[in-house]
Amino acid sequence: MPLLEVRDLKKYFPVERSLLDRLLSRERRYVKAVDGISFTLDKGEVLALIGESGCGKTTTGRVVLRLLEPTAGKVYFDGIDVTGLSDEEMRRLRRRMQMIFQDPYASLNPKMRIGRALEHPLLIHGLATKKEAREEALRLLERVGLTPAEEFYHRYPHQLSGGQRQRVAIARAMITRPDFVVADEPVSMIDVSMRASILDLLQDFRREYGLSMLFITHDIAVGRVIADRIAVMYLGKIVEVGPVEEVINNPAHPYTLALIEAVPSIKRRRRKEKKRIVVGGEVPNPINPPSGCRFHPRCPYATKICSQEEPRLRRVGPNHYVSCHHPLKQES
Ligand SMILES: Nc1ncnc2c1ncn2[C@@H]1O[C@H](COP(=O)(O)OP(=O)(O)O)[C@@H](O)[C@H]1O
Ligand code: SF4
Ligand SMILES: [Mg+2]
Repeated sequence: MPLLEVRDLKKYFPVERSLLDRLLSRERRYVKAVDGISFTLDKGEVLALIGESGCGKTTTGRVVLRLLEPTAGKVYFDGIDVTGLSDEEMRRLRRRMQMIFQDPYASLNPKMRIGRALEHPLLIHGLATKKEAREEALRLLERVGLTPAEEFYHRYPHQLSGGQRQRVAIARAMITRPDFVVADEPVSMIDVSMRASILDLLQDFRREYGLSMLFITHDIAVGRVIADRIAVMYLGKIVEVGPVEEVINNPAHPYTLALIEAVPSIKRRRRKEKKRIVVGGEVPNPINPPSGCRFHPRCPYATKICSQEEPRLRRVGPNHYVSCHHPLKQES
């Protein structure tokens, strides 16, 4: 049984209606941020969720942790239907499911000393006495490289750099020894020189705790460093999912290929006839997504069927699935 199973998950945000909309009794419209996605995550596995800004990655992470209520669909964690839990049951489960946010400047309470911020989750879940919580906070500070720990324990967030704050955020997420963490672009707002060491830190915790992770990133090169599998999102849908190296060396969806081609540092395995693709245009609006395949207005391979029929996810290799009428890779 997978640790996490997400089944046909949807999250629609209602759009504010203008006065004119209301006067004309126009129907309420919705931003279809996440529009029917399914995936699983095994114990100890890291799945990278990749895609351009606005494709629904953050919303997916928040709905999976039920920081947002889903519009439809199910999330099973360790066999428990998370979408059906009461607030109290959810509160208890939170210890096992944590989140690391993108913005280290917004994720820590500015008025709380670092030590208190770390102890807080242990104390509210009743997992430790004050003394134990303090010892654990100091141990974690040491563990994430904020030394001397005693000194950082007494500091406020504003006395820390962005990279240091993100280390605190990681320590805080790890202090309850979770089984699963959503890391939402944890290095995208951090100085480039610090990124590798933060990713290393996440890898260490993963090994130590047998942690499963949904790692959200717009950067496929970062995803490659940390993930076992990649899921590529486009306008609220997963368009391709598979083992990292397989997807990067042998992408089946034209959009995945375009994402890879856009990153010069990614050296793909040499192939006889290397496919190339450049995708122009803007990401369309998730209020009125294009008909059929949502990628068709930007896709150089589009044919008539692409604008008429939505492609289903189909298998193109071991553990490798794509949703495209004309995949670049056929089942072998
Ligand atoms: N609270 C919200 N209310 C309305 N629209 C939202 C809200 N949160 C996100 N969206 C919209 O949902 C879409 C997906 O956003 P998001 O999940 O943040 O994407 P990503 O993390 O991939 O950049 C975007 O069009 C965004 O504007
Ligand atoms: S279904 Fe058609 S439009 Fe969509 S990605 Fe495949 S070829 Fe392109
Ligand atoms: Mg985001």
